[in-house]
Order: sequence, then C-alpha cells, then structure tokens
Amino acid sequence: MRTTISDVRSWKKSGTRFATLTAYDASMAAIVEAAGVRLILVGDSLGMVFQGHDSTIPVTLDDIVYHTRAVVRGTKTALVVSDLPFLTYHKSPEQALDSAGRCIQEGGAQAVKLEGGRTVAATVKRLTDAGIPVLGHIGLTPQSIHQLGGYGTQGKTASQAKALLDDAQSLNDAGAFAVVLECVPSELAALLTHSISIPTIGIGAGPDCDGQIQVIHDILGLFAGFVPRHAKQYATLADTARQAIERYAAEVEGHAFPDGQHSVAMKPDALETLREQIQDLE
Ligand code: KIV
Repeated sequence: MRTTISDVRSWKKSGTRFATLTAYDASMAAIVEAAGVRLILVGDSLGMVFQGHDSTIPVTLDDIVYHTRAVVRGTKTALVVSDLPFLTYHKSPEQALDSAGRCIQEGGAQAVKLEGGRTVAATVKRLTDAGIPVLGHIGLTPQSIHQLGGYGTQGKTASQAKALLDDAQSLNDAGAFAVVLECVPSELAALLTHSISIPTIGIGAGPDCDGQIQVIHDILGLFAGFVPRHAKQYATLADTARQAIERYAAEVEGHAFPDGQHSVAMKPDALETLREQIQDLE
C-alpha cells in the first residue's frame, strides 16, 4: 500500500515532521524509499540535474511521464508526485486536466505538483474535483525564472509576504493537499505554516515547515554544477563515483580487470573439442 494524501495531511495534525526528496529513476527511487522517505517528487529539476539544461523550462510532459514511470516501477510504498512542466497547465484547467491525467494514467503517479498561487487556484480545484491530488508550489517558482529574474529569496517585503500568505490560503481552499514553499524567509514560512490547514513542505524556507524537500543530487553531492545555499551535502557521491571510475579505467588499462573472478571459463573438454574443430578447419 502506498502512502496516501490522507497520511500526508495527518502528519500535520499529529505534528510529525517529514522528509521528502526528488528522484528521477527506478534505482535511486528504490534507495530513497528504502531509506524511509514516503513522498517522492519527480521534479522538473530533472531538466537541470539529469538533462543538463540551465533551467527547468525545456522539460516536457513526455519527459515527466517517462521518469514518473521509472520512479513508480522502482517503488512500492512511496507516494509519487509528478511535476507538471512549464506551459502544460497554464492555458486552461482543461489543459491541466489532460496533462495531469497523463501523469496519473500513463506515469502511474498518485498526485501532481504545479507552481503558482491564486492564479492557479481554479486549476487546482478542477484537478481535485476530478480526483487528482495536487501539491502546490509557491515562493521561488523556477518555471517563472524569466519573470522573477533570478533564483533569489521571495517574500522579503511585507507586501510580497502578504501576497504569498494569500496564495497559500487560496491553494488550501482550492483543495491542494500540501504546498511547497521554496526560498522564502524562515519567519514567513513559520507564519504561513500556522495559517493554513494543509502541510507546508519547505526548501530554503527554514526549519518551521511541516516537512522538507530537497533535490536528491544536491544532498548526495552528485551535481557538479551550482549547489544552492539551502542544500546540505550529506555525501560527496560525485567524488566517490569519479574515484571508482578512475580505478576501473586504470585496472582495464593495466590488464588487472577483468580477472578470473569476473570471467567465465569454458569446460576443459569443450575447449579441447573446439580446438580440435578449429585444427580440422585449418
Ligand atoms: O522540481 C523540483 O525538484 C521541485 C522541488 C525543488 C520542490 O520543484
């Protein structure tokens, strides 16, 4: 049985802090789940850490469906949330329904995430009315990078902060089951967390959110590019991987790999017969 959105809602009521992560492929998703993480986001951050783009804008719905399938195949109990990419839900609630429907039907996700507050409230309602759980996302919304002009902290002035409180409330009222708060001041995240009944999931939003989310490549030290200030590296797997690959290449070049242990020998009588057959041909 997978984690449900009722479980997520209940964590807020019981005051249970929870960690969530992104994953983009079956093997990493299996590790994340085995570590006890119960909500996995197939984030459009894959455009940067997986595909090598410099923003999330180029990610397509086909990409998200493809990676969602892999994550769902790699997991048994986690709630899998697909991120709706840029312009796959902005045109109309009906477009959002089609896009979310693909993530659920073809991808096998249990929920979708979309960016925005009051402006997407009608869309959130349309999806939840159709039985598709929605995770909101406000604060720094990377799909609006060209509008925002950078990846800086949002909601620093009183009026911006008030607008975010209104955004969170409208997502709450539209039926979102939780909301991601990205890059907002800790005090605002705390106020916001107390002002709505659904869980907040912070990233760069301080310690007082109900849960936290991080990009898996950031916490594992897998991404050689930019590491955001809010990301703590719990491992340096890029270094570990490079060292392992260097040893592998050195052993191949030095004739140390593959050795007998990693090779398969023919049965002596089969080898003898083969040699005789080759001799007969000469
Ligand atoms: O795309 C993503 O990974 C996200 C998280 C950082 C919240 O939106």
